[in-house]
Amino acid sequence: MLPIHEPTVAELFDLRGKRALVTGASGHLGGELARALAEAGATVVASSRDLARAEAVVADLPSCDGASHRAVQLDHMDEPSLLAGFAAAIDAVGEVDVLVSNGHEPLAADWTDVTAEQFSRHLKNATGYFLLARLMREHAVARQKPASVILLGSMYGIVGSYPEVYRDVCPVSPAAYHALKGGIVHLTRHLAVCWAPDGVRVNCLSPGPFPSDKAPLELVRRLCDRSPMRRMGQPHELKGAVLFLASDASSYMTGQNMVIDGGWTAW
Ligand SMILES: NC(=O)c1ccc[n+]([C@@H]2O[C@H](COP(=O)([O-])OP(=O)(O)OC[C@H]3O[C@@H](n4cnc5c(N)ncnc54)[C@H](OP(=O)(O)O)[C@@H]3O)[C@@H](O)[C@H]2O)c1
Repeated sequence: MLPIHEPTVAELFDLRGKRALVTGASGHLGGELARALAEAGATVVASSRDLARAEAVVADLPSCDGASHRAVQLDHMDEPSLLAGFAAAIDAVGEVDVLVSNGHEPLAADWTDVTAEQFSRHLKNATGYFLLARLMREHAVARQKPASVILLGSMYGIVGSYPEVYRDVCPVSPAAYHALKGGIVHLTRHLAVCWAPDGVRVNCLSPGPFPSDKAPLELVRRLCDRSPMRRMGQPHELKGAVLFLASDASSYMTGQNMVIDGGWTAW
């Protein structure tokens, strides 16, 4: 019997030769997710709804072994744009091995005043994640190669809000956001089961509180009080998780929700 090569840890986490599409790469977390994959050797295709913004992200990414990162325009809320953006990514780098669906159209209205139209539109973020993941699965099957799909969830896809944290500062986390992210956590499980025979792994990455510097200071202070670690997450604290999910280090993992929340959901 031939000896089985046991991959080393360095090999398991090595993304050289892999190509990764990261949506919403211009954002607070998307930029760090793209950077993590680039630092691990992947060729990154960064997307934005605005091509110039995606190009700016790409210009700032480190490159291993001459990886040539690329930018595409892609809007999750618009099916023709998803199709065109995914096709442009393949045109740009040949094949795609990893999809990180991170882009997110936000909603300001909470449960008190959200309209039916606003609520439904917010849920359409999940439609975009699904349609893009299905394109990725078709691509993987056509080229007979494995793929890793990573969907961004949230701690708010698992637990309810603390309404008092938001009181008199800003609207409470939107009801539609909780429905959306809970749906994405569960969509992950369903797609993982359906696509496991195709070699397509689907996992969810759920951040806890990672407010950007645009968040009100009082809100951040109250959120810190609610966190077991008494502090907010820094975007680079998602780098290890996305690398794990994207790489062969997680080759036996599918359908799971990886929660990086400073212990928020452990109370
Ligand atoms: N930050 C947190 O505390 C936190 C916590 C839990 C979960 N999350 C999740 O993590 C992901 C990233 O969040 P973030 O905080 O980095 O948000 P962000 O800074 O607002 O970035 C989101 C990005 O999504 C893009 N986007 C907006 N509408 C889009 C659309 N229709 N189609 C495609 N892309 C679109 C935007 O880029 P362009 O304008 O360039 O297109 C934006 O840069 C989201 O899925 C969010 O729900 C964040």
